[in-house]
Amino acid sequence: MKMMSYKTNEKMAINDELVSLIHPSLTHSIKFFLDSPELNTLHTLLRHNVGDNCIIPNHIERLSVPINVRWLDMPCIGGIKRLEPNSVGWMFLDFMGHLYGNKSTYIYPKKDIEYAFKNKVFKNNALFAITLSRRSINSLKDKREWGVTCTYIYLIARKYGYETTFLTGRFYKKIKNMYFIAFRVMKK
Ligand SMILES: C[S@@+](CC[C@H](N)C(=O)[O-])C[C@H]1O[C@@H](n2cnc3c(N)ncnc32)[C@H](O)[C@@H]1O
Repeated sequence: MKMMSYKTNEKMAINDELVSLIHPSLTHSIKFFLDSPELNTLHTLLRHNVGDNCIIPNHIERLSVPINVRWLDMPCIGGIKRLEPNSVGWMFLDFMGHLYGNKSTYIYPKKDIEYAFKNKVFKNNALFAITLSRRSINSLKDKREWGVTCTYIYLIARKYGYETTFLTGRFYKKIKNMYFIAFRVMKK
């Protein structure tokens, strides 16, 4: 079966943009992210010389990673539960699903976000980015999903002792129901 490719110019530009936003004091902290067997995000981190301390959860595909990279054969939520408090400098949850997730595939973005903040995994000035899809681009309700996601992240971060500042984000040009958002995460 042919592997799905995420390697578009737009996606690679987003990876570059997000990697360039790693705070200078956190370049050697843990980077936790979703990647496919193509490892586009890992390759971007390596290209920017910040490819150390990388952890990639993926229970759907087998990843062939370099020896110093940790692939966790488990859903994202399992990986987040294993993270030490105050350890992560960069987190990119690059999902294909919507905020409310999909029970049958163990994909729960909402829970993943809550766990990350609740377990206080972020270092001060960490970057937190997420890609999600809207459930439909036709209904008015779903057009507002971007705002719902921003508000959810802001409130959940506050609940567990963090402030978030919006850094960047937009709808993808080619896949119009997908969007990404990135925040700087500061300890209150
Ligand atoms: C959108 S792709 C990542 C693309 C990559 N960041 C890039 O720029 O090319 C998401 C990958 O994570 C896997 N995945 C999706 N949801 C996941 C979850 N909840 N836990 C672990 N892996 C997941 C998918 O199978 C897929 O390989």
